Amino acid sequence: MERRHFLRLGAVASGVFAVGGGGRLTEGLARAQTLAVPTVDRLVMTTVVDNIYDIFANGGKLDSITVERAPYRGKVNALLAEHGLAYHLESLHKGERREILLDFSLTDLNLFNNYRALGLDPTRADALIISHGHRDHYGALPDLARTGQGKFKPGLALYAGGEDTFCHRVAVTPTGQTADQGQLDRAGLEAAGLRVMLATQPAVVAGHAFTSGQIPRLTDFEKPPAAARLVAGPMDSVCSPAHFTASKVEVKPGELVTDTFQGEHATAYHVKDRGLVVITSCGHAGVINSVRQAQKAAGIDKVHAIVGGFHLAPAPDEIVAKTVASFQEINPDYIIPMHCTGLNTIIAVHRVMPQKLVMPSTGTRVIFGT
Ligand SMILES: [Fe+2]
Repeated sequence: MERRHFLRLGAVASGVFAVGGGGRLTEGLARAQTLAVPTVDRLVMTTVVDNIYDIFANGGKLDSITVERAPYRGKVNALLAEHGLAYHLESLHKGERREILLDFSLTDLNLFNNYRALGLDPTRADALIISHGHRDHYGALPDLARTGQGKFKPGLALYAGGEDTFCHRVAVTPTGQTADQGQLDRAGLEAAGLRVMLATQPAVVAGHAFTSGQIPRLTDFEKPPAAARLVAGPMDSVCSPAHFTASKVEVKPGELVTDTFQGEHATAYHVKDRGLVVITSCGHAGVINSVRQAQKAAGIDKVHAIVGGFHLAPAPDEIVAKTVASFQEINPDYIIPMHCTGLNTIIAVHRVMPQKLVMPSTGTRVIFGT
């Protein structure tokens, strides 16, 4: 039986956004509003960009979802895959429709091509969500904000899970080489008219979805990727590790520090008569931690689907096994691994719960609910 509680929107801090004449307006903290987790009748989740595009992936009606695959169309409206992730989320409740864009892939070339090829108009969005500050998730967002300026709904909100979403990140390979993950330019987004909302606590988005807020690390086996680093900013800046973590260690600006992904958050829906659909995006906080936080935030135990990048491709077998055992414990109806999940985990899920596994492919539409 589901436990319905209320969300306490304790610290959804809205940011600074540009107003006419180049002025700036700072909104105060929206404190302690009590919000019920919304329920939707139907959620249509379209994977706009993913790492693979498999024209032979199986689709059709399963027990309680429908999986529609994008047909092969030759060179006309061809879909493009890349190392990146982007979703279009369309929900319906009592005739009311909402559209949310979650993450924005790596390149504007692929994202804009696929919006067009899939017949999706990003300017219809009721809200935007960025899961975390890696370029394979925010890459095309600055271009989308610029090209959508004047076309997006006025005051369109972009939900981020923390200030560190806008800090500079790099990955350090085992051989010591660094790969620049870039830095999402918050001021540039605000100048283009987006209203940045820092949802450090669970928050309702566009009246239909909710974000997890920052994700407590409950499991003892889910750790941030060893390669992930954050470039320290000045001590008094939002990108100083001391500013947003408990760390009191002083580091000089420009030094690399371990990235704990404090501001990463998951996106979730409560689908009527089905349960939660939890989308982890890249899952650096741990897919199990992310699901547990979504359950806690909603006060709902039943998980209908676990979706997203689970970031287990580089993980040893032991961690994959513990994750799959936790999946069995959570017992979702479906698991839809994509992006950075890794074939190791897909195979492990298939081995123990093949009927729950939905293979990923760019352009796939999964219909949850009625
Ligand atoms: Fe990613």
